[in-house]
Amino acid sequence: MDTFGRRHNYLRISLTEKCNLRCTYCMPATGVPTLTPNSKLLSTNEILRLASIFVKECGVEKIRLTGGEPTVRRDLLEIIEGLDKLRSHGLTSIGMTTNGLALKSKLPALKQAGLDHLNISLDTMSPHMFELLTRRRGHQSVVDSIYAALDTGFKSVKLNNVVMNGVNDHEVVDFVELTRNHDLYVRFIEYMPFDGNQWSNKKFVPYKTSLAQINSFFAPTPVFKASDDPNDTSKAYKLDGFKGKFGFITSMSEHFCSTCSRIRLLADGNLKVCLFGNNEVNLRDVLRSSDNVPDEEVIRVIEEAVRRKKKQHAGMENLATMENRPMVLIGG
Ligand code: GTP
Ligand code: 5AD
Ligand code: SF4
Repeated sequence: MDTFGRRHNYLRISLTEKCNLRCTYCMPATGVPTLTPNSKLLSTNEILRLASIFVKECGVEKIRLTGGEPTVRRDLLEIIEGLDKLRSHGLTSIGMTTNGLALKSKLPALKQAGLDHLNISLDTMSPHMFELLTRRRGHQSVVDSIYAALDTGFKSVKLNNVVMNGVNDHEVVDFVELTRNHDLYVRFIEYMPFDGNQWSNKKFVPYKTSLAQINSFFAPTPVFKASDDPNDTSKAYKLDGFKGKFGFITSMSEHFCSTCSRIRLLADGNLKVCLFGNNEVNLRDVLRSSDNVPDEEVIRVIEEAVRRKKKQHAGMENLATMENRPMVLIGG
C-alpha cells in the first residue's frame, strides 16, 4: 500500500533486456546501449524467491512477465512453473506480454506450465510497415502466433497496438474488424516517450481521435462502453454483435495513476514503482548481501520503495524530458 492508499497487487517482472525485434518506439536502432552483464541479472531462483515474497508477504495476486522479449529467456517455462506453485498462496493470474515472433511453437508448453493470459504486440497489418517499425522481418509469424494463441485456450488473448500518426493510425478500423469473429481484446495504446525513442507530439494520436474514427467507420453499428476492472490500464469498448472487444490505453491524454496497482521488477533486480521517472531500488543486491538474507529485510526495502511512489507521473508536457530508461529495459 502506498501513501495514497493504492494497493499494489500487480507485479510485472521483466525477464530479459534482450529482444529479437528492434521496434522504433521501444529501442534504439543499435539495440540496448549497455546490456547488464549476465552475472548481474536475476537468476531463475532469485526471480522465484522474490515472486514468492511478493505473493506470500506483500499481497501480489497478479504477475505479468515482460522483457525485452520474454520468450528469448531459456528458463521461461521453469519460471512459469515456479509461479504456478504460488497459486495456493494467493496468486490468481499469470500473464505474459510478447512480440509474438517466436511464440507459436511454444504456446502449448506455456499453457501447460500455467500461463493464463497472453498479450501480443502487433502494430500493423502490412508486412512492409512491420519491417520499417521493427527493423526485422517476421510479420506472418506474429499473425500466425495470434491466431494460434486464440486456439490454445488461454483465459484471455489481447493484441497491443501503439498508434502513431502517419504510421499506422489509418489501420485502427482494420484491427477493430478482427474483433468481429474472434474473442480478442484489441487495445490501442497512446504513444509514450521513453529514452531514445524519438517521441514527438506530431506522431501522437489521442485516443478520442481513434475512437471517433471507429465510430464513424462502423456506423450505424453502435459502439458500446464495455466493463473494465477497476485497476485496468485500458478503457474497453465493444461493437454490437462482435465477439471480441477493443479498448484504449490512454497514458498520455487521460492518465490512470489514481487507480495504479502496478510495480515492476526489472531484469537487473531493480524495483521500479512507476513506469515513469527513475525512482528505483535494487533487490538483487539485498538478496546477495549475505548468505541467508531473511525475507523481512527484502520486505522492508520493498515497502520503503512503495511508500516513495508519487501520486502521478509529471504531466504530459514534462514526460518527454523526464529521466527514465529506454522502454526495452522496462517492459511496459
Ligand atoms: P493486462 O494485465 O492484460 O491488463 O495488461 P497491461 O495493460 O497491464 O500490460 P501490457 O504489458 O499489455 O501493456 C500494455 C501497455 O500498457 C504498454 O504500453 C504498457 O507500457 C502500458 N502500461 C502498463 N502498465 C502501465 C502503467 O502502470 N502505467 C502506464 N502509464 N502505462 C502502463
Ligand atoms: N508507447 C506505448 N507503448 C509502448 N510499448 C512499447 N513502447 C511503447 C511506447 N513508446 C508497448 C509495446 C508492448 C508493451 C509492453 O508496451 O507495444 O505491447
Ligand atoms: Fe502507475 Fe506510474 Fe503508470 Fe501512473 S504512470 S499508472 S503511477 S505506473
